[in-house]
Amino acid sequence: MKKTIRDLDVKNKRVLVRCDFNVPLNEKGDITDDNRITAALPTIKYIMEKGGKPILMSHLGRPKGKADKKLTLAPVGKKLEELLGCEVVFADYDDVINEEVVELSKKDFEKILLLQNTRFRKEEKENEENFSKELAKLGDVFINDAFGTSHRAHASNVGVAKNLPNGVGFLVEKEIDKIGGVLKNPEKPLVAILGGAKVSDKINVIENLLNIADKIIIGGGMAFTFVAAQGYEVGKSILEEDKIDLAKELMKKAEEKRVDLVLPLDYKVAEEFSNDSEWKTVSYENIPSDYMGLDIGEKSIELFSKLIKEAKTVIWNGPMGVFEFDNFAEGTEEICKVLAENDIISIIGGGDSAAAVKKAGLEDSMTHISTGGGASLEFMEGKVLPGIDIISDK
Ligand code: 3PG
Repeated sequence: MKKTIRDLDVKNKRVLVRCDFNVPLNEKGDITDDNRITAALPTIKYIMEKGGKPILMSHLGRPKGKADKKLTLAPVGKKLEELLGCEVVFADYDDVINEEVVELSKKDFEKILLLQNTRFRKEEKENEENFSKELAKLGDVFINDAFGTSHRAHASNVGVAKNLPNGVGFLVEKEIDKIGGVLKNPEKPLVAILGGAKVSDKINVIENLLNIADKIIIGGGMAFTFVAAQGYEVGKSILEEDKIDLAKELMKKAEEKRVDLVLPLDYKVAEEFSNDSEWKTVSYENIPSDYMGLDIGEKSIELFSKLIKEAKTVIWNGPMGVFEFDNFAEGTEEICKVLAENDIISIIGGGDSAAAVKKAGLEDSMTHISTGGGASLEFMEGKVLPGIDIISDK
């Protein structure tokens, strides 16, 4: 068990918190989804209530080790002020840490301090020792509350933790508890639903879940590699030809382990990759050569819904079709609805599935929606996440 913020004395302390404020921005630089910011609030509020000073740091985007004003954390500071109703001092220094920032960390305990994008410094991704030590000067204790970044070993999560008493925040604690709990000791039957474009992104998740799940439902673009592995045509559908053998192997392993690997029975297919392209529904054995599958069909929805209703626990990662196109969103939306309407432990991982749940307005009906994309995937692969591993045990 990892130490949590509750195990540390934060009163009158400067509490350096690694958050994951890597939020989507539109062209004007406005935040289009503030989920990751709201998810960080319980830890920030707790520190303030206990009389500590939150000093927040995060990366935003991939600025390649130098300052890029389009990726400033200024909008995050504004959003935090709006949500918390207190002043957030933004340390707008391109070098992220310097003597002035250290001075700011010691002043005004009632105000939050937010650092500039940690990836403005190349030393961040290098997990460089001196940079980590410099960052550690900003806090008396360190809290990792950036689950979404926990699969990275960078200075602001791993390096800094080596130099300060540390623990995880409430957000990370919840992710470990919910996702980790289901992976370790799921209420059975456990059904995993995996979707998204590429099977290559999900190979390790499938491998790991073959040891845990009773059924694995495959949808989305990745299903076509399995269709090809069964010897059928996929037309213009997305296909990873070099992964066909692997798909065959996974099907064989599933059989050996007596896990049902369930594929769609039918697909909504269209001639063009466009919302307005005319579509029709065909069975998986009859995908026409000039058509591409953009969603699962009605028979698949019916079958998947039945299997979901029989489950006690469902892990879902990846959409069933191109849900950004309204005409091809039905498969993904129906999965959301069935999960929401039934008494099931539902664990949603991955940015796209989380976005689909949000689009359907069903966030409150899910047991847990992970703030991690790559991190939740690696967690489901059974990998050790360095940002969590480095935190002291109780
Ligand atoms: C994410 O959005 O998955 C995390 O913030 C990590 O971002 P990265 O993939 O750029 O490291």
